Amino acid sequence: MLFEIMTLFPGMFESYLAESVLSRAIERKRIEVRLHNIRDWAENKHHKVDASPYGGGPGMVLKVDCVVPCVEEVRKNGKESGRLLMLTPQGKRFNQHDVEGLAQEKRILLLCGRYEGFDERISQILQPEEISIGDYVLNGGEVAAMAVMDAVIRLIPGVLGDEFSSSLDSFSRGNRFLEGPQYTRPREYRGLEVPEVLLEGNHGKISLWRAEMSVERTRKRRPDLLDS
Ligand code: ADE
Repeated sequence: MLFEIMTLFPGMFESYLAESVLSRAIERKRIEVRLHNIRDWAENKHHKVDASPYGGGPGMVLKVDCVVPCVEEVRKNGKESGRLLMLTPQGKRFNQHDVEGLAQEKRILLLCGRYEGFDERISQILQPEEISIGDYVLNGGEVAAMAVMDAVIRLIPGVLGDEFSSSLDSFSRGNRFLEGPQYTRPREYRGLEVPEVLLEGNHGKISLWRAEMSVERTRKRRPDLLDS
């Protein structure tokens, strides 16, 4: 899968991409990541990519005349046209169902904004899918783009050590329950003991206990998941 990231801050992705799961996936050619600096498409002599909003107001707005040529050039330099996602707090709320859809794609283009937002004509011309990762405002789309990539990449076969480990995740393939509690060594820490059922080796009983814990946790923390 090819990710093409368009950003003003390509350096933000470097340590993330060097991290173990990601670098292994890149090494094994499961994924390829290309970084494009939007500033390279700024035609003016100061390489200005933003300007103050018409009508006044705080902050700066990303300019249509550098973002559009950037995306158009990146888009046409590929075999697949791919899916174009724009990261913005005004977008559709991203969820695991979207992740599963994206995991089937060959090419994903991620457009990251900064400042107060994008000139509206960028969306009118490029018709991207506008995506928000949650109801809070980040300083830019870069962290959101990493979250989207991270969620998609772990569904690509051969990326995680254990091919099945992502299929048990909360929210995966219609799973509406949060994961229950997990424990590992030591058996006792500061007086807190691992539940006896996990130590007895009765796998039927363990599965039942885990299912109960999972429902209980979901009911307490995310009752909205049970309603849907
Ligand atoms: N850019 C700024 N905030 C964002 C959010 N919540 N989701 C996606 N992109 C963003």
